[in-house]
Amino acid sequence: SQAPKVALLGAAGGIGQPLGLLLKQDPLVAHLSLYDVVNTPGVAADLSHIDSNAKVTAHTGQAELFAAVENADVIVIPAGVPRKPGMTRDDLFNTNAGIVRDLAAVIAKAAPKALIAIITNPVNSTVPIASEVLKKAGVYDPKRVFGVTTLDVVRSQAFVAELKGHDATKTIVPVVGGHAGITIIPLLSQVTPATTFTEAEISKLTPRIQDAGTEVVNAKAGAGSATLSMALAGAKFANALIRGLKGQKNVQCAYVASNAVNGVEYFSTPLELGPNGVEKILGVGKVSAFEQKLIDASVPELNKNIAKGVSFVKGN
Ligand code: APR
Repeated sequence: SQAPKVALLGAAGGIGQPLGLLLKQDPLVAHLSLYDVVNTPGVAADLSHIDSNAKVTAHTGQAELFAAVENADVIVIPAGVPRKPGMTRDDLFNTNAGIVRDLAAVIAKAAPKALIAIITNPVNSTVPIASEVLKKAGVYDPKRVFGVTTLDVVRSQAFVAELKGHDATKTIVPVVGGHAGITIIPLLSQVTPATTFTEAEISKLTPRIQDAGTEVVNAKAGAGSATLSMALAGAKFANALIRGLKGQKNVQCAYVASNAVNGVEYFSTPLELGPNGVEKILGVGKVSAFEQKLIDASVPELNKNIAKGVSFVKGN
């Protein structure tokens, strides 16, 4: 079969459909394997008419999951239920935890070497869930399991560029920590090109970035959470993973088992991606006193989210 094969699980959803569109257009994708519990044939037929080179296949329902992920190089997972107004990402836990656990169990058998990019929220917990399932199956490699935090980076870059009148496409903002509320930590002291912020700007921008998902949830007024921007972020991250597999090392932020910060196993920092997934953990670097406070505050919250995921799999 052609490589790289990218499997998209949850392909018929609000994120899945535009993400499938972007992956179909990515010249690096040779085979786009679409999986969902409903509507996959329609989405696949539609995408297959686009004149790009990626081959599209459709797989529907549990019985076809093994084939969907078999030999996949990269697996992107937006399967799950989205947030409604008044809900936190953690409120999604029960439904989405079960979905990710069951998908990971099949991935462990059908594609133990794949790079897995998890979008399903709460990412702070679903990454540990998938990791525990892979551990149980004896195929866990911490270099290959990622929580996608690219949307936090994308948003930060958009907001900083907007505030400062910069070119958004040339603005780089590292975001570390996790992917919910106070665990989202934009490193405004490390923006490229070098940008200075007043204290007032920092204390306005930081919570806006942390709550940006809620801005979308509220604006959609019951229709769900971010889909289009999340799809773009997911496609960017999948492309970065594929470039890494092809030997084009590149740096991205993602939530992985990095031990990058003392006292917490999973933590997003800039990482070097390469042929084996994570090649190098670059860490948080030199942070401001304000950022260090945010990092310190995120650790107990992340540990709570991680423990919840781990005990969901271990059953205690
Ligand atoms: N396997 C595969 N797909 C599934 C499963 C499953 N077990 N359960 C549900 N799905 C599919 C649904 O059929 C649907 O097509 O996942 C898709 C989810 O789509 P939406 O309900 O539109 O949700 P979306 O807005 O795409 O968000 C999905 O991503 O960002 C996160 O918080 C968000 O966790 C949520 C997820």
